[in-house]
Amino acid sequence: MKDTLFIKGGKPLNGKVRVSGAKNAGLVIMAASIMAEGETILDNLPRIRDVEVMIQILNEIGAQTRWNEDNSLSIIVDPSKIKTRTSYELAKRLRASNLFLGAMLGCSGEAVISMPGGCDIGSRPMDLHIKGLQALGAQTQIEHGYIYACANTPGGARVYLDFPSVGATENIIMMAARTPGTSIIENAAKEPEIVDLANYLNSMGARIRGAGTDVIKVEGAQKLTAGRYAIIPDRIEAGTYMISAAITGGEVLVENVIPTHLHPIIAKLQETGARVEENDQGIVVKAGPYIRPVDIKTLPYPGFPTDMQSQMMALLCISQGSSIIVENVFENRFQIVDELKRMGAKIKVEGHTAVVEGVSKLCGARVKATDLRAGAALVLGALVADGETEIDNAIHIFRGYENLTDKLISLGAEVK
Ligand code: UD1
Repeated sequence: MKDTLFIKGGKPLNGKVRVSGAKNAGLVIMAASIMAEGETILDNLPRIRDVEVMIQILNEIGAQTRWNEDNSLSIIVDPSKIKTRTSYELAKRLRASNLFLGAMLGCSGEAVISMPGGCDIGSRPMDLHIKGLQALGAQTQIEHGYIYACANTPGGARVYLDFPSVGATENIIMMAARTPGTSIIENAAKEPEIVDLANYLNSMGARIRGAGTDVIKVEGAQKLTAGRYAIIPDRIEAGTYMISAAITGGEVLVENVIPTHLHPIIAKLQETGARVEENDQGIVVKAGPYIRPVDIKTLPYPGFPTDMQSQMMALLCISQGSSIIVENVFENRFQIVDELKRMGAKIKVEGHTAVVEGVSKLCGARVKATDLRAGAALVLGALVADGETEIDNAIHIFRGYENLTDKLISLGAEVK
């Protein structure tokens, strides 16, 4: 029962909600924390399931962790006690466990990482990660489900990424931060989480320039010094609450946001007719009189984020017209379609394209969260649906949304 959310729809959401720290920035920064000896303190880390699994992996490899009274997380690293191997049991629960590869190579010159395998949103290869790390001198071998990597004589190098992969950019930055010489990553990912990782590493003494652009230059540092760092707010959580106002006909102030990170989402929400205003406290979203259809293409940042595609689809399900959504990043992001159809949505999928025909209302139904963002989209659909929606597998949603139930209730939703 604990794994099921019950939502009675039809209430406009009103009020304010505070966004938590960014999951994807927090996870990579937790992995990078093993590169500095001593105590790292991370503020604004969200208390979500993915972070809890990352803590278990940190403990498994020999770091000590503890939540402090002020809600910060302390990670204490004694390099002589750190093991450079992640286990299948924990790594399989969290794709981001692959980020220990670059961190371990950077600080210890060796790593054995359980292959993350495919997942619910599509095949997630690591060829670009490996290509970049090899350019910096790592030798790698894949055997029995593990990536074995060691770098006996690492050296700075130029790496061109065929696709601006977030994880590959992060792994290469981490290894390069401790690799002698200069490394240059071309066609790097530009996501805000990459900038946060670079800022964190620089705060420890790394020399990384250009994060947030497509060319990142890293001068290897001999040593990094542990310190205190605050994670940026989660732009995807923020975007989800912004849509919750637009879809339910309400008005919500979303606090603790960095508005520039949200520009692609704001632009599309405005096209649907919602009123979006930035003020000193955050972003206010007020639903328009009706929802206009819009077309969406997911792209690497600063394009429209794939992590917001499902939530936007939920909104467009009740628009007055038809919208076309093209998913360019992950091939399986349309699993949500069958679940939304159970609620009365009209959607057709052809390859990477979905055509959403707006309907006048969604109806409560029993549905299943197939992945984290699909789960968030079902929550949004349920908030506006007639009657009660029962969302099974809600554990997926708790992987990425801190205190989701309480936050929704505080905005006036009926959620159990
Ligand atoms: C990260 C985010 C995820 C987000 C995604 C895209 C974390 C923990 N997760 O995932 O929430 O949806 O960025 O913004 O930060 N690819 C390859 N070869 C590789 C690596 C990736 O072909 O070596 C492909 C993938 O199959 C996918 C695309 O590149 O089609 C994007 O993946 P990537 O940017 O690497 O996403 P992640 O880092 O896994």
